[in-house]
Amino acid sequence: MAQLTGTNKIKTAILFSGKGSNLKSLIIFSNKRMSPISIDIIITNNPKAKGLNYSKIFNIKNKIVEYDNKYLAEKIILSELKKFDVKLICLAGFMKILSKKFIHNFKGKILNIHPSLLPKYKGLKTHEKAIKNNEKFSGCTVHYVNSRLDSGKIILQKKVKISRNDTPKKLAKKILVEEHKIYPKAIMKIFNP
Ligand code: GRF
Repeated sequence: MAQLTGTNKIKTAILFSGKGSNLKSLIIFSNKRMSPISIDIIITNNPKAKGLNYSKIFNIKNKIVEYDNKYLAEKIILSELKKFDVKLICLAGFMKILSKKFIHNFKGKILNIHPSLLPKYKGLKTHEKAIKNNEKFSGCTVHYVNSRLDSGKIILQKKVKISRNDTPKKLAKKILVEEHKIYPKAIMKIFNP
């Protein structure tokens, strides 16, 4: 396979709201020669998001978007995406739901990572729900984003065993380790099938 350089990689934006550990792992992946993507802009709705620190550390532009008005917020996001000629959007713990119109505009170009084995446990509190239901396994899923929450086509999943003494917090930690691995893997799968 031909090596991709910064200039011919797929320009990508990451949308996030919090800690940004998936954001970090995607940036590290994007900096590898074999990565098909570059991270050109990171966007958050949360001015206090810890993940914003990675903007400085990795020298990537960031944009904080006030979300008082969703319509306006998405307008600003769209203009940022245009400015950086973004072709792929990776949601990584982005706690806002994108409008149908926005998703339609980027059909097939928005990915998300979700901490459960979809279609099980869509939405929030996935680990609590899995433990409460006495599941033997949970895990994480990378999927395309469509207009229904956590329901787009699945790209990749990783199973994680739930131990007897797992709390939601412990389980979240175990699954997060796998999230950091499967998000890059899913991107490789899409662009180098
Ligand atoms: C992850 O568990 C991800 O699956 C979910 O939100 C969390 C984000 O964590 N969508 P981080 O900010 O990437 O550390």
